[in-house]
Amino acid sequence: MQIKTVGVLGCGLMGSGIAQVCAAAGYKTIVREVDEIALDKGLGRIRKFLDDGVAKGKVSADARDKTLGGLSGTTTFSGLGECDLVIEAIIENLEDKRQAYAALEKIVRPDTLFVSNTSSLCITELAAASSRPDRFGGLHFFNPVPLMKLVEVIRALTTSDETYQTVFAFARSLGKEPITAPDRPGFIVNRLLVPYLLDAIRAYENGLGTLDDIDKGMKLGCGYPMGPFTLLDFVGLDTTYYIANIMFEEFREPQYAPPPLLKRMVLAGRLGKKTGQGFYSYA
Ligand code: CAA
Repeated sequence: MQIKTVGVLGCGLMGSGIAQVCAAAGYKTIVREVDEIALDKGLGRIRKFLDDGVAKGKVSADARDKTLGGLSGTTTFSGLGECDLVIEAIIENLEDKRQAYAALEKIVRPDTLFVSNTSSLCITELAAASSRPDRFGGLHFFNPVPLMKLVEVIRALTTSDETYQTVFAFARSLGKEPITAPDRPGFIVNRLLVPYLLDAIRAYENGLGTLDDIDKGMKLGCGYPMGPFTLLDFVGLDTTYYIANIMFEEFREPQYAPPPLLKRMVLAGRLGKKTGQGFYSYA
């Protein structure tokens, strides 16, 4: 199957980045948000990223204009009727996703492929919640989407060979490096990253060092682009807590159990960069 038109459900942090890279790769891209305010905010984020890229000399003005020219927004599902592939990047809630798939099914063609950018939910369960479990898979991008090279491609138990191959080739056509990950909580990257981040919090609670020193240690000693606490604030403590709980529920191993400090920071609303306060202050 040839993909020409891509729909993106959700224009939040991940959805806007995904829509941007699809449009930049030459796909006609239509992004759907729940209302005009959310849509304007998401499209504004894309415009700013591209303008910053031009200012930094990383993106040509022509490429920016072509990307924006290939991108449109809608607040309806019917606006996605012509899509060959729909990438779902909405809130991590099974019921919300189920409702979105049901609304989509009414307007897209039977051969349209669905993929979810979920970082924590079971792809097989999501596929079963759609009426096309063989034409459904996982396509997990990393934040910030336009800069991170990796995409995880996940097969549900029901994903057909053809769907898997088409989605894998599509990921590569975006200029990304796809890897095949199992339909298990955390896939490959979060399966290794989340226990590391949780362990950093536990070690900090046990007096291993200051936030700055632990971050500096991993950044300068191991060449990581961000230390664990900077990365936790960047990813969002709520997101990390949510993923950790799902992993713990599935594996029942202590390495996935969210540490008490993480839970309390989430309860206090200290979610990281997005709320202005996490392990560090961004005021
Ligand atoms: N347009 C184009 N290019 C841009 C750009 C823009 N608007 N803004 C920045 N860039 C380019 C820069 O020019 C730079 O390019 P060079 O390396 O060629 O010079 C590169 O992108 C890096 O940008 P900066 O130098 O401005 O910033 P940085 O060096 O601090 O890098 C970062 C920023 C890429 C975010 C880096 O800190 C990083 O890789 N951090 C780790 C991010 C990470 O781990 N993400 C995964 C999170 S986990 C996840 O997402 C999964 C999940 O399910 C939770």
